[in-house]
Amino acid sequence: MQVEKHLEPFRLSLEKLQDVSARLRKDMLRGLGKHAHHRAAVKMLPTFVRATPDGTEKGDFLALDLGGTNFRVLHVRVLEEEQRVLKMDSQICAIPQEIMLGTGEKLFDHIAACLAEFLDSQKLRGQTLPLGFTFSFPCEQKEIDKSILIRWTKGFNCSGVEGEDVVRLLKEAIHRRGDYDIGSVAMVNDTVGTMMSCGYRDQSCEIGMIIGTGTNACYMEEMKNVKRVEGEDGRMCINTEWGGFGDDGSLKDILTEFDEEVDKTSINPGVHTFEKMISGMYLGEIVRLVLLKLTEEKLLFKGCPSEALLTPGSFETKFISEIEDGLENAKKILTKLALDWDLVDACVARLVCDTVSSRSARLCAAALATIANRIRTNRGLDHLKTTVGVDGTVYRKHPNFSDELQAAVRLLAPKCDVSFLISEDGSGKGAAMVTAVAQRLSCILVLNHSKLYKPVTEL
Ligand code: GLC
Repeated sequence: MQVEKHLEPFRLSLEKLQDVSARLRKDMLRGLGKHAHHRAAVKMLPTFVRATPDGTEKGDFLALDLGGTNFRVLHVRVLEEEQRVLKMDSQICAIPQEIMLGTGEKLFDHIAACLAEFLDSQKLRGQTLPLGFTFSFPCEQKEIDKSILIRWTKGFNCSGVEGEDVVRLLKEAIHRRGDYDIGSVAMVNDTVGTMMSCGYRDQSCEIGMIIGTGTNACYMEEMKNVKRVEGEDGRMCINTEWGGFGDDGSLKDILTEFDEEVDKTSINPGVHTFEKMISGMYLGEIVRLVLLKLTEEKLLFKGCPSEALLTPGSFETKFISEIEDGLENAKKILTKLALDWDLVDACVARLVCDTVSSRSARLCAAALATIANRIRTNRGLDHLKTTVGVDGTVYRKHPNFSDELQAAVRLLAPKCDVSFLISEDGSGKGAAMVTAVAQRLSCILVLNHSKLYKPVTEL
């Protein structure tokens, strides 16, 4: 079938996935290395989180969550007795496109203003609560409260932030206002927040994974392998930034012409190659480009694309889930896109969605299996039982993404028994957990970590 010719490059065999996993394994080692790190596509960033919750944390916290489609402010209470994290209240603030692409100062002023509004609504102004800041972009963490943005990813591109300490920028914006203050700050990536929020419920949760607007994972690595941080004992959570896998050209053989187009027209060409094959920000656009190609080849919609189909970004990623959920949805969406479809077209559109989302799930599985296999061999175990805390709209909302991912992980990491725990409000509650664990360990982590876990100076 002619359609199949265009879909075939998306179908990755088990052998291919094993091969991708082997490449990622090598890249992870490079990222962890002291010297190779600078050139590594997979950054493997130390997070200075070296303990998962033990259930004795408690207190009230603020949490900020920036990095997905919205910005959120939360008030979180950690209850020791019940080993529960309660979300007291939260507020979503939209971040308009002009702020996402404007100056850093405007962005942080906007964040500080949203926080002020929230504190007022909660009658919390006047209290200086500790704050967990989930900032879901690659950061070189110097300390738990000092974190330098390496580069923007996803839809953000604010000037004057790359290379700067994000905590300082936040504090400066709050000081510019001068009408409230915050306590100690702990910076976290959303993967880390997700792992930590699940870690309170399941202490074998040592991996955090996000498959939403972007994709990424973190896991607990042996300190002795984290060559860029001094100290040999115990473990530290590493933010892999696996979205950057392939940025050095290592995935060239599996990129399709559609992936290349998505990259070329993105706001950050050449950056986060792996993420662009997997995450919600890009999947819809990949499907649109395939549908357009099939239309141009007269294999769909009688060869007539609609205005909508010709418009970048018009095919939303959520359409993929809806279309795969049922043929009736497919018909509705094709009608909404003003396409002249027949039943065969609707079935083909569904096949395209299924092909693109399956590739995403299988690629994620290959990456996750690489991490699980690594933890197992790190610990010299024949068999590893572990839990992954997961969040993200693609994982949560797609009808069979999680099944497909889990099935592929079983094949690619046969000696690992991996359970999946959906994180409820991971990046909000998790950020509070990190702050709480940091307070619990304050003598080790906050006060002395610079002695114990100093980044190796050549950084
Ligand atoms: C992007 C960011 C990463 C984040 C992920 C999921 O890949 O670079 O830090 O964890 O998106 O939100």
